Amino acid sequence: MAQPADAAPAATPFERLGGEPGVRALVDRFYDLMDLEPHYAGLRALHPADLGGSRDKLHWFLCGWLGGPDLYVERFGDPRLRARHMPYRIGIAERDQWMACMLQALQENAIDEGLAQRLAGAFFGTADWMRNL
Ligand code: HEM
Repeated sequence: MAQPADAAPAATPFERLGGEPGVRALVDRFYDLMDLEPHYAGLRALHPADLGGSRDKLHWFLCGWLGGPDLYVERFGDPRLRARHMPYRIGIAERDQWMACMLQALQENAIDEGLAQRLAGAFFGTADWMRNL
């Protein structure tokens, strides 16, 4: 059905997650799980000892990627995400650990099922594109 011209635009994934605090909660859960769960140890070992910078960068990036403010680009310019992952050996195993960790974070943060599925598809496309092995 056609929308009236003055209809509010559909909510972005950023808004549906609850804006910046919601994105931050997802990112924090993701890195907490990576730190705690033994089956993400391989993924964890690629990251620095202190995950503070990783948390901030993923948070800033996801805010823009999900349709909110471009906080990453404001700070660092073009994300060039694939190039920035080149220093790390990323194959199927690393991609799948990253995805499993993110899926667990989505589930534990009780993200709406429909939104979680849509995000999972988008995350998978980006994670697969990051492979360099
Ligand atoms: C496919 C598996 C992936 C692996 C193994 C991986 C691993 C890493 C590692 C080791 C870093 C460096 C952390 C740091 O410097 O603190 C990093 C940075 C980053 N990752 Fe990933 N990553 C993956 C997928 C993704 C995906 C799917 C996204 C986005 C949806 C993403 C977004 C980022 C961002 C924004 C940074 C910061 C880049 C920078 O400014 O240096 N990564 N990743």
